[in-house]
Amino acid sequence: MSTRQPILRAEDLHVWFDLPGDSELHAVQGVSFELRPGERMGLVGESGCGKTTTILALMGLLPASASVAGRVHLEGEDILAKGEESVSPHRWKDIAMVFQGAMNAFNPVKTIGSQIAEPMELHGTATGRAARAQVRELLELVGISGERAERYPHEFSGGMRQRAAIALALACEPHVLLADEPTTALDVMVQAQILELLVRLTRDLGLAMILVTHDLPVVAQVCDRAAVMYAGEIVEMGQMTTIYHDPRHPYTRMLFAATPDLLGDEDVLSIPGAPPRLDHEIVGCPFTPRCDSAFAPCPTAHPRRLEVAPGHEALCHLNDHLVAERPA
Ligand SMILES: Nc1ncnc2c1ncn2[C@@H]1O[C@H](COP(=O)(O)OP(=O)(O)OP(=O)(O)O)[C@@H](O)[C@H]1O
Ligand SMILES: [Mg+2]
Repeated sequence: MSTRQPILRAEDLHVWFDLPGDSELHAVQGVSFELRPGERMGLVGESGCGKTTTILALMGLLPASASVAGRVHLEGEDILAKGEESVSPHRWKDIAMVFQGAMNAFNPVKTIGSQIAEPMELHGTATGRAARAQVRELLELVGISGERAERYPHEFSGGMRQRAAIALALACEPHVLLADEPTTALDVMVQAQILELLVRLTRDLGLAMILVTHDLPVVAQVCDRAAVMYAGEIVEMGQMTTIYHDPRHPYTRMLFAATPDLLGDEDVLSIPGAPPRLDHEIVGCPFTPRCDSAFAPCPTAHPRRLEVAPGHEALCHLNDHLVAERPA
């Protein structure tokens, strides 16, 4: 495990969305994690568990209907402390994001190159001729010929647009890259190439990355560490190899069991049942109705977050015996 100071630290992060009719949805419920320079962490879980909301909160890009609590330290500075005022100087410059569906989000009437130059101009890191030269370099870095900067999005394949979306996120040389489902909707060969690209970029540029995906094998292939989310919480987190060999939450175990190998069919998640609604208060462990190991405390008591081994934590009553066994 790296001993370097974390570059990014989230502490007890919560996000609520206002819903019509005076109700709210608690999308992120006390998420805490640390990310070290050069580290690749997978944030993994089924649809609706709060992955995108978590990383949008890190970027300060949630809609006005959202309220946020908690702290996000980027290189030691709390970037949530004063809302937009504290996060905007860092957004794209120090922390950047490849949005879910980014490859389809380019403006069709602007060239790819001019869109990659926009964050540079916004932050004043490069303008005019220098920006154009940097755009070409960035395109080359992600495996696209620099000459294609003058082309329009429809002239790029899906895989190339996703590469261009990664180049856009790297435009201001951030230290932290958040990649939200960067390979979904791409065919298996192109998926593998994009994952390879992300690994190479993090290695060559010393970038730290959070890779958001519902696909645990992708995390296993790419990441050093994994954080498994369920119903707005991180229910298990640790080194990838530890989580793979010794999962300590039944959800993690079932996610591994439910995922076919990389060349398998696309029906990735097949755990029976569905996650709970997040606009109602959840009593007990939220995974109880779907859990094959549920026992007496699960329906009524929310589990404690326990460090089951150094650097490996889980939120499951099956680990409660560890507390009793530990000397006071
Ligand atoms: N703008 C919003 N207003 C209200 N609820 C929202 C909003 N955005 C997300 N949610 C809700 O917050 C919860 C978490 O959603 P989120 O998009 O973060 O999940 P996700 O893990 O990224 O899912 P997916 O894998 O489908 O992308 C869900 O219940 C979702 O319906
Ligand atoms: Mg999402």
